[in-house]
Amino acid sequence: MQITAKLASKLKSCNSVCVLTGAGISAESGVPTFRGPEGLWSKFKPEELANVQAFLANPALVWEWYRYRKTLLKNVSPNPAHIALVKMEKHFKDFTLVTQNVDNLHARAGSHKVLCLHGNIDKNYCMTCAKDFNDANLAQTTVPKCDCGGLVRPGVVWFGESLPTQTFEEAESAARRSQLFLCIGTSAVVYPAASLPLIAKECGSYVVEINPEVTELSAIADESIFEKAGVALPQLVDIIPKN
Ligand code: OAD
Repeated sequence: MQITAKLASKLKSCNSVCVLTGAGISAESGVPTFRGPEGLWSKFKPEELANVQAFLANPALVWEWYRYRKTLLKNVSPNPAHIALVKMEKHFKDFTLVTQNVDNLHARAGSHKVLCLHGNIDKNYCMTCAKDFNDANLAQTTVPKCDCGGLVRPGVVWFGESLPTQTFEEAESAARRSQLFLCIGTSAVVYPAASLPLIAKECGSYVVEINPEVTELSAIADESIFEKAGVALPQLVDIIPKN
């Protein structure tokens, strides 16, 4: 893989880095992405599963889908791309990792601070009283209920729902002040997450995309590295001077 002189120089000299990840960074761990021929949304419809109306209409179906994904995620591990980002967090003075993923693999790899825009699949909460439940204390009934009688739902952001305000504000601020913005493994079509590389670019950051495929961002990015994240990111880390 060819690393341009411009990117190498940014990796060696800049202080402020913001990274946005999507489903593609976990693909090499064995987690299916959403879009594309093998993606989850080619088999399951978002309008039937990933919105609150779908949940209220058929909570058993939505819970079956989330239990399938929770089980799948318990059996996978972080890959070299997640680990490379842990090394970057240790190196850069101002490093912000923002993810659209709910799979928790960044934290499991050892990243200390992760801004999870779309929630966390390990969490669940009551729709009536907002009590939190982790998977261990979740009733094993088809549709788990809270002590108050309310429906318990997965702690993820569904289509049509707002992102956690403070988390998104922190992500936006990191994108604005970044000198280098890495956009990794996302089709860059779901907003507001997809606005982050655009904001970074407007503010003068050097925007680099890492994705084996062309995306919505490719025409706007300063560089696209058409490579798998698990191949590209360890090579970028190798360029960074050892502390
Ligand atoms: P997508 O499934 O839309 O895009 C995954 C991207 O990863 C594609 O562009 C692939 O080309 C790329 N990809 C595949 N393998 C890769 C690899 N080994 N290395 C790097 N890139 C690879 O997933 P997201 O963009 O994350 O939202 O989707 C955004 C949101 O849409 C998700 O967070 C989810 C979904 O609906 C909610 O659930 C709210």
